[in-house]
Amino acid sequence: MVKKCSKKIVKTGVSFPSDLLKSFDKILKEIGIGSRSQGIQEAVRTFISVNIWKIKGEESVAGVILIHYSHDVKGLEEELTDIQHDYVGIIPSTLHLHLSKEDCLQIITVRGNATIIKELVDKIRSIRRLKQLLPVLITLR
Ligand code: NI
Repeated sequence: MVKKCSKKIVKTGVSFPSDLLKSFDKILKEIGIGSRSQGIQEAVRTFISVNIWKIKGEESVAGVILIHYSHDVKGLEEELTDIQHDYVGIIPSTLHLHLSKEDCLQIITVRGNATIIKELVDKIRSIRRLKQLLPVLITLR
């Protein structure tokens, strides 16, 4: 007996800058994904997984918040630490990498309610003197 697939497939057209598509195709080939459609579906699933916590507040999520900053900026490290102390319940650990004489990368691991983690990310973002801030979170099902 042939099992009928219940998922409806929708065709759509997407425009890409040619160099982006070239890089995408190269990676597809390297990692052994057979078709562009399959690769794009996987990329979209990853995009949804890493962004859904921003719109759905009650999800349980886990991941890291990457913070790149200069430790020469007066008071910044203290501010970062103060914020983290307000969220001890969702921060299992923090890792600090000294990147150069001035630059630091702080990796805050988080696990918990998406709304609270979003609040933490917003508070870190409000520091403003950071070089980069990148939350990478997955939704737990
Ligand atoms: Ni450092």
